[in-house]
Parts: sequence; structure tokens; C-alpha cells
Amino acid sequence: MLNVVILAAGQGKRMRSDLPKVLHPIAGKPMLSHVLDTARQLGAAKICVVYGHGGERVRDALDAPDLAWALQEPQLGTGHAVLQALPLLAAAVSPAPTLILYGDVPLIRAATLRRLIEAAGDDCLALLTAHLPNPHGYGRIVRVDGKVTRIVEEKDADDAERAIREINTGILAAPAGRLARWLPQLGKANAQGEYYLTDIVALAVAEGMEVVTAHPDASWETDGINSKAQLATLERIHQRNIAESLMEQGVTLADPSRIDVRGVLTCERDVFIDVGCVFEGAVKVGAGATVSAHCVLKDCTIGAGARIHPFCHIEGATVGPQSLVGPYARLRPGALLSEDVHVGNFVEVKNSTIAAHSKANHLAYIGDATIGSRVNVGAGTITCNYDGANKHRTVIEDDVFIGSDTQLVAPVTVGRGATLGAGTTLTRDAPPDQLTVSRARQTSIPGWKRPTKKPK
Ligand code: UD1
Ligand code: CA
Repeated sequence: MLNVVILAAGQGKRMRSDLPKVLHPIAGKPMLSHVLDTARQLGAAKICVVYGHGGERVRDALDAPDLAWALQEPQLGTGHAVLQALPLLAAAVSPAPTLILYGDVPLIRAATLRRLIEAAGDDCLALLTAHLPNPHGYGRIVRVDGKVTRIVEEKDADDAERAIREINTGILAAPAGRLARWLPQLGKANAQGEYYLTDIVALAVAEGMEVVTAHPDASWETDGINSKAQLATLERIHQRNIAESLMEQGVTLADPSRIDVRGVLTCERDVFIDVGCVFEGAVKVGAGATVSAHCVLKDCTIGAGARIHPFCHIEGATVGPQSLVGPYARLRPGALLSEDVHVGNFVEVKNSTIAAHSKANHLAYIGDATIGSRVNVGAGTITCNYDGANKHRTVIEDDVFIGSDTQLVAPVTVGRGATLGAGTTLTRDAPPDQLTVSRARQTSIPGWKRPTKKPK
């Protein structure tokens, strides 16, 4: 019966933003969501978020059935914050540990927290501590004969205490029942006039309880975010971690420091990703596929062996195996490309299916269309799918050849094997296997003179 309390009532003034601090994103996801997801990985029975100023927006953005919300108003310190959460915890009298996390420390890992919880066991206070070369600003861990006796805050510390390099990360685990006894005993006779959560350490020691420590694997796990600069630093660390994990899975990255994944990127074997690509939502890339430089891929599937050339924007689309896309192509939601389809530069495809071996290589708009196999769509072809009020479908059957600069005024069907002459404005169905052309006959006027400027 693990309880988790996430402290998130601080204002975050240094972000200089109207957005509450814990909603600022890391990898496209609010920083508090990272902490919530980590808490969920631990199998918490109850997760309680302590919120404060602007907190309704946080609650509206992230509320879920497994969360409880405790308002802390005014904010009188970390001890006061946890006190607000106590009534909402499952089995507050049980010895099971309550884990305290910070909403602005987003990269803490479940493996580290499992070690901390294990160290706390059934009846210990466990602190997550770290040894820092520059401990300035943090609470210091005071030990006597190697045993933790208390935590002293920077502002309350004397010179000898300030020299201690072991710091309090703020993350700890303690039995819920003991917290319920300790928290109301906290005073605020200290330099900041706050109820310090850290004072429970001395209370535990006074009760004869052992205070144990665990440590994060990496220092960034416990780094907090107070400014845009720190937000950017942790974003880079997080992206680097994602890149490392992709490479471990066999993905080749042209530069692991120039990829951004804001969601879940799943790659099969031998995928190559060039620099400057952004992946959002759920993206799947099939075996042997290449994503070239500066592409943005969101919620899409790229088939095996497909090549996405540079500068493509693909969202809500499926690219079939061995297909070629771009450079400078835009695939919008509902674009379903089958096997070996070529979509070239400055081609936009929306809510359309394109069957195997068809090509639209240059400057086209394909919207609300069903295109068969082996179709060639000429340069400058446009489906006129929208009449100002409603959208209509264009159907192009197998083996059609569409000449350049053609407009297909939907609803309209081009029959199997038909050819449309260049420049055609198709307003009625084109029969199969025939040439259809709508174009004024070409004339030349002999002796015609170009107008000249009149003398002033
Ligand atoms: C706290 C610890 C300090 C530790 C440091 C690590 C205390 C007294 N001190 O210091 O030992 O080294 O964190 O960063 O606990 N919060 C609330 N309500 C409040 C006050 C804070 O929800 O009334 C939240 C903040 O939003 C933040 C977290 O608690 O997420 C820590 O608050 P912060 O002011 O950053 O802690 P420090 O005083 O710096
Ligand atoms: Ca403070």
C-alpha cells in the first residue's frame, strides 16, 4: 500500500510565465506528468498532488481517477504541504511507506525510487541524498558517527554544517502512520519561518527510529526546475537519454544530440535517422527505413524500407513499405500510402488513400481522394474537394495517367486506364481507357502587335 505525495504548490516565479511551473513541458509533456507516470510505475495505491497558486489549471489539465488533490493555501513550507495531503492518503495509519516527490523534479527514475522504498522497509525513514561538489542552497545531512541525526537548511546552517557535501534531494519515504504523528509537531522557529518537512528527521531519531539513505544513479535525476534555463538543461538531458536508448535498440542516429522525441518512437531494425528530426505522439518506423534531415513526424507509421527525404511534415498518416516521400512533402491526417508510392516535393495529401506503385512527384494537392494502383498524377494537379460548404471525393481508378495542371472538381471519378490531358478541368466523370481533355483549342494570330508605351 504505497502512498505517493507530490509537492507542487510552489509558484515558480522565476519561470516568468503565466503557465503554472509544473505544466511546463519536458519532451512535450508537462513536467508534473513525468512525475505522475513514474509514481504510477511504482504501483502506488494513492497519488496525492499538493497544489497551490494557479493550481486549478494544473488540476484541470492533469486530473485522473487515480489522483487526489490537496490545496495548500497559504504555502507555509514543505512540512505544511505534506500535512495537507495526509487526510487523503490510503490507510494513513498503516506502516506502509509514503513517498514524497517534487512536481518540479521531473527526471527522477523509478529504479532509484524503488531502492529508496526498499531502504525504508516497513518502519524506517529513508532519505534520498547526494554528494555534491557545490552543495550551496540545499539542506545538509548531518551525521554523527556515520548515522543521520538531522537535516539543516542552508539558511539555518553554521559554517561547519555548510561545509557538509551530502545534501537532501528532498525526496524521502516514511511510514504514513509516523508522518501523521510527526507533522503536527513541526514548528517554524527557523530562518525562513516555515514548517520544514526536513525536521521529521530529528523527530524520527528522537523516537529511536533508524534514518537510512539511498542515492540516485545520476545527479540529473534529482535536479529541480526553477528557471527556463534549467528547463532547457533537463530537456537536453532527457532527449540524450532517449537517444541513447534508441541507439541501444539498434537505431542509427546521425547525431544523438540532434533528435527530439516528444512521445513514443518505436523503430524496427536498421532504421537511420538524420539530424534535426522531431517525433511527436506515437511514431512507428519499419525496418530499414530512413528519415532524412529536418522532418517532423507525428502519430504516424512509416513502412519498412521507406525513405522520407528531408523537410517533410507527416501527421496522422501511414507510409507504405518502400515508399518515397519528399523532400518537402506534407502528409496530413488520413493519408494512407500503400507500398512503393512516390510522393514528391511540394505535394500535400490529406484523407486520401494511394494504392501501390502510384506517383505524385511534384506540386500537387490530393485531398479526399481514392487513388488506385500505378496511377501517375502530373505536376500541378489539384483535387478541388471543397465547394465552400462541403467536401467531396475524387476517385481515380487503376492505371490512370493525369496530365499536368489538372483540376479534378469533386465529386468526380476517373475510370480505369483513362488519360487526362494536361490542363484539364474535370467536372464530369472521365470514362475508362479514353483520353479526356478540356482545354480551349490553341490559336495563333499572325501580324499581331504587342502594345507599346504611348509617348508623353
Ligand atoms: C527543500 C528542502 C531542502 C532540500 C531542497 C531540495 C525543506 C525544508 N527543505 O528546500 O532540504 O535540499 O528542497 O531542492 O524541505 N512546496 C510546496 N509548498 C510549500 C513549499 C514548497 O508545495 O509550502 C513544494 C515546491 O513547489 C517544490 C518543493 O516543495 O516542489 C520544494 O520547495 P522549495 O522551496 O524548492 O524547497 P527548498 O526550500 O529549496
Ligand atoms: Ca523555499
